[in-house]
Amino acid sequence: MYKYFFLAFFSLSLNYAAYPDPVYSESGMVVSLHHEASSAGIKILQKGGNAIDAAVAVGFALAVTCPENGNLGGGGFMIGATSKGQIFSQDHREKAPTRSTKNMFLDKAGSVIPQMSLTSRASSGVPGTVHGLLTAWKDHGSGNIRLQQLLAPAIKLADKGYVLSKRRADLYNHYKTAFTKNDAAAKIFIKHDESPWKQGDVFVQKDLAKTLKRISKFGISGFYNGTTAKLIIKEMERGNGLISHNDLKAYQSVYREPVIGTFKGLEVISMGPPSSGGLLLIHMLNAIENFPIDTLGWNSTDYIHLLTEIAKRAYADRAEHLGDPDFWNNPRDLFLSKKYAEKRISNLSMESHTPSKEVFSGIYNDNESDETTHYSIVDNDGNAVSVTSTLNQNFGNKHIVAGAGFFLNNEMDDFSIKPGTPNFWGLVGSKANSIEPNKRPLSSMTPTIIMYDGAPIMTIGSPGGSKIITTVLQCILNVFIHDMNIKQAVCAPRIHHQWLPENTVYIEPNGISKDIIKNLQSRGHTIKTYGYMGVANGIIIEDDGLYGGTDCRDETSAIGY
Ligand code: DON
Repeated sequence: MYKYFFLAFFSLSLNYAAYPDPVYSESGMVVSLHHEASSAGIKILQKGGNAIDAAVAVGFALAVTCPENGNLGGGGFMIGATSKGQIFSQDHREKAPTRSTKNMFLDKAGSVIPQMSLTSRASSGVPGTVHGLLTAWKDHGSGNIRLQQLLAPAIKLADKGYVLSKRRADLYNHYKTAFTKNDAAAKIFIKHDESPWKQGDVFVQKDLAKTLKRISKFGISGFYNGTTAKLIIKEMERGNGLISHNDLKAYQSVYREPVIGTFKGLEVISMGPPSSGGLLLIHMLNAIENFPIDTLGWNSTDYIHLLTEIAKRAYADRAEHLGDPDFWNNPRDLFLSKKYAEKRISNLSMESHTPSKEVFSGIYNDNESDETTHYSIVDNDGNAVSVTSTLNQNFGNKHIVAGAGFFLNNEMDDFSIKPGTPNFWGLVGSKANSIEPNKRPLSSMTPTIIMYDGAPIMTIGSPGGSKIITTVLQCILNVFIHDMNIKQAVCAPRIHHQWLPENTVYIEPNGISKDIIKNLQSRGHTIKTYGYMGVANGIIIEDDGLYGGTDCRDETSAIGY
C-alpha cells in the first residue's frame, strides 16, 4: 500500500530484533506523558468515542497528572485527520490581554525588566485550552460521549489523587523554592510538614477537582464565566495581572487552515501561524529533498551539517516573517514553496558552515501590503489526532489561581518583548511578533500528521520550545529515511540549531561521538551539550495495526486496546 515506503516498513516488520520496541495494538492507541491520562483516553475509545473524544479526555487528565505542562491555564494546537482524509487544525493558543502593551516588559529606559515576562502575573495570556478542547469535542467528537464522561477521569484523579512516581515526586521537590513564592502553589505542592514528596505518595488537588466539576457542569462557561472566571480575576488582582472578565468572555479558539506540504510522496499536515512549527517543518523538508539525504548516514557529519545549515536559514526567516495571522500577513506560500527552499540553500556548502551573521531572512515582497506536552491518538477507524499543549515553562509563571487549583501560563514571553532580545527559548523576533492587545504569541509547537494515499500514517509532536521543530523533523526523517520504528525514532539522540546563538549546534549528552564533534568543529560549528531535547510522542499506522512510540527521555505511556 505505501508504495514508496513499502520496503522500509516491510523490513521493519521482519526485523524481530528491532530495539527498543513500540507498543502494538490492533485498534486504538493513545500516547501521552502519563499512564493515567493515556488510560483515560483508552476508556473513552472503549466506550465508543473517537480519537477527538479521547484527546479531550487525555487533555483534561494531563492537567491533573502533569500540572507542569498539562493545563487548564495554558494553550495549544490540535491537528486532526480522519481515515477518509478530512483534516483540520485548531488554534487554542493564549491571547495577550486587552490591557497589554507593546513595551509592557520594558523599563523607562527601554531595557527589559528581568524575569517580568516569565514570573509576574502579567506574563499570562488569556488561556485557550478549555475552549479549544470542548469546541473540538462538539465539532469533531463522535457524539457518543457526554461532557461529563470526558471530565470524569480528570475529576477523579484530582479529587481522590493519583500515585506519584519517583520521577514526579522529584520534579515537585525540585520546584519547591518556586512554589514557596505563591501561597496557593505552596498549599498544594508543598507537603504540610514540608517533607519531600516520595514515590507512592498520593497527590490530591481538591481545588482543581472543583474547577473541573464546574467545567463538567457548565462546559466552556464553567471556565470563562462564573466562579472560575472570578477566581482568575482575583488572582490577577493579587499583583500585575492583566486578564479581565471581558478577555475571558471573549476568548475563542479558532480553526486555521492547516499547512500542507509534501515530502518524498508523503503529505505533511501541520500547524500554521500563530505557530511557526508547521511552516518551518515543511520548509526544511522541502530543502532536504534537494540533497541525497538517504545516502548520508544517520547522525553522520554530513547529515548533522546539512540539517544545521538548513535550520539556520529557516530560523532566520522565522525571526523576521512570522506572527499571529490575525495581526500579521504571514508569507505562508513562501515557506511552503519548493522553489524558495531551493533558492534558500543555493549558498549552502557541505564543506563549511555559513556563519549565522551572514544568514539573513529571505526577502519577501508582499504587495498587498523544560514544559509543554504532546499527545497522539488513533482510534479504531484510523482517525488521528495530534495535540501539543503548554504553559510555556514548567508550571508556567508558577502562580496558581488560588481556589481554582491550576497554574497560569507565562506565554507572553513567547512574544518578541524587545526587537533582537532573545526570549527564554533563545528566539528573537521582530514586528511580526511584537506584543499587541488580543494578539497570540508566535509558537514553535508542531503537532503533525503524515498522510499517505489520503489517510493518516503517522502522528507526531513534541515539547521543547524552539527545539520542537527540529525534534519533529528528525523523528520524521528517522522513520521515513532511516527506517527506524516509531519507538527508535522518538528515542534516538537529537541535535538542534536555530540560527542564533551564532553557529551553535546543540547536542544531547553522549548524543554523538567525539570524532563527529571534531569533524563538525572543523566545518565551523560550535558544539554545545544542552541536555535532553523534547519529549516526542508518536503513532505509526500500518496495515496490521498501530505502533505507539513514547520518548525514552521522560516517563511516558503508550496504551493500546
Ligand atoms: O509555544 C512555544 O513555542 C513554547 N511556549 C513552547 C514551550 C515548550 O515547548 C516547553 N517545553 N519544553
